[in-house]
Amino acid sequence: MAFISTREQVKNMVKDAADIVQVIGEHVELKRAGTRFSGLCPFHNEKTPSFSVNPQGQFFHCFGCGESGDVLAFVMKYHHLEFPEALKILAQKFSVDLPERQLSEAEQEQLRRRETLYAANEAAVVVYQRCLRHPQLGRAARAYLEQRGVPSAIIDQYRLGYAPDPEASSWSYLAEQLVAKGLSPETLESAGLAVRKERGGQYDRFRSRIMFPITDMTGRVVAFGGRILGEGKPKYMNSPESPIFNKSRLLFGLHQHREAIRRQRRSLVVEGNFDLLLLAVHGVDNVVAPLGTALTRDHIHSLRGYGDEVVLLFDADAAGLKAAMRSIPFFLAEQVDGRVALLPPGHDPDTYVRSEGPAGIASLVEKARPLAEFAFDTLVREHGLTLAGKNKIIAELKPLIAEAADPAQQGLMVAHFCEKLGVSPGYFKTGQAVLGKKQPLVSSGAAHQGLASLPKQIRDLVNFLIMFPEFLSDLKAAGLDEIVQEPAAVRIISLLDQLPKEQAGQPERLLAAPLDFEERAYVVKLLTDTPPFGHDEKNDYAQGMCHSLVGWMQSIRQKRNGADLQLQIQEAERLGNTGLVMELVRQKLEVGKKRTGL
Ligand code: UTP
Ligand code: MN
Repeated sequence: MAFISTREQVKNMVKDAADIVQVIGEHVELKRAGTRFSGLCPFHNEKTPSFSVNPQGQFFHCFGCGESGDVLAFVMKYHHLEFPEALKILAQKFSVDLPERQLSEAEQEQLRRRETLYAANEAAVVVYQRCLRHPQLGRAARAYLEQRGVPSAIIDQYRLGYAPDPEASSWSYLAEQLVAKGLSPETLESAGLAVRKERGGQYDRFRSRIMFPITDMTGRVVAFGGRILGEGKPKYMNSPESPIFNKSRLLFGLHQHREAIRRQRRSLVVEGNFDLLLLAVHGVDNVVAPLGTALTRDHIHSLRGYGDEVVLLFDADAAGLKAAMRSIPFFLAEQVDGRVALLPPGHDPDTYVRSEGPAGIASLVEKARPLAEFAFDTLVREHGLTLAGKNKIIAELKPLIAEAADPAQQGLMVAHFCEKLGVSPGYFKTGQAVLGKKQPLVSSGAAHQGLASLPKQIRDLVNFLIMFPEFLSDLKAAGLDEIVQEPAAVRIISLLDQLPKEQAGQPERLLAAPLDFEERAYVVKLLTDTPPFGHDEKNDYAQGMCHSLVGWMQSIRQKRNGADLQLQIQEAERLGNTGLVMELVRQKLEVGKKRTGL
């Protein structure tokens, strides 16, 4: 059995497992630039990005200061660590087992056991693959996959296999072959591949099932999911937990799809294995699926490293709804943007992509609603907006809010829900119930408690306007008022708007406006933190920034227009107004063209 020993081998294992963009992205704000990522160099002071990360080559390079290296070099340099410490940190982060020099007997034994389990799973993949290709044994399984629309390229890519029908082969088809390869019955049992018989001997756990290998983040097979051919119970059977398999951490597809997810800065979560496969068949490959369990915080945490946003593509049934609701605290705690798209009734992503194609999925994703809104609407549908209903809604929202990562975020959520419910924030803090008399809406004080906790894009925009109020009219012309709705931002913008125009170029004059304590502190900090610009430098920077903000606002508006149009199209279709449908579709194509820059 291969046993890692040399320093070079260990280093390579860690480098393979570690994701350089994720690691660096935790410390440097990286933007995609073609096949690379770029950002401000953490190793020298700069205002325009000359630091670049190359995920294919797995290295970084700064064109400004010349610093470069691989992921280990980055961690060493950034955290001022020696090689072994950097190795250890990355190994831990990406679940690579490091053979320590001074391992105790027991630890060495444990390490060997894990290696044996990996080997057993890997050998099982090969047996199952061979069985799927077997002329007789695999015939029904091949027909099943074909009927479900899974082509052979996908079968190979995901290393799908088949555990044969014991009537046609044997009850220990797999076990016999693995034992013949030198794996012990105990290993097979602890890998969850075989089950011990009461009267001695063992039989295969998986029989008559399509086998989906589940890999960890380094690509090693740690478990299987098995689907029965056609009808039968249980429909899916998964490997039991083992020393190398923790269901609540792993996601099916993440290893294969991590590049696609990073490219699109977004992951889609589906509920089923075939949902994932069929989306991949249709080219939608930024998708993952939990392994027959609810989403956990660990799942969200591992997706967080790859993109800003996670979209749940769940069935519209009660289970799908509940699953989405239950995941909300994890999104809040991990500070990941979550949105939900429910499939039309009777569909799952598998059937939907087969009937509507990737465009159908794209349009669902586009219309996906932010989790907070989704949760609120779901609760309103369930409880209604009577007084009793509001009290129930508040009671259900409270634990969700309590999970939010920090008090600022909690404050924002409370403000958001108070506004929607028309109650004051006190109800979320104390045990008091909403009473009969009309409650004031959120006071402006509560709403603008957080310039600092505005969403990042909005905060960037506000910061820019505070620094360069002379660009306010440009941004207004580009639709600023439509885009910015956060009360804290709206207030600052209206104060800036009231400044006499000849004061352009003197951002500190904002301090003369009636700011409250927090706003004043925020503005002072911004002004004093910003390094002085040279004159030309400043103009270039401001022009460039204004340009990119206008671009961003346009893309938001187009996105919104696209989603609106989609709803109008559906409505027109429902009413059977073909002429209107055609006109709206034409408009939507225009919007799409603008967005893709065609
Ligand atoms: P579903 O029951 O929604 O089925 O299970 P599906 O994905 O649409 O299955 P197909 O399309 O009929 O093949 C969703 C997921 O829940 C897990 C599996 O991971 C499955 O993909 N599951 C389901 C189990 O673990 N055990 C079961 O018995 C059923
Ligand atoms: Mn299905």
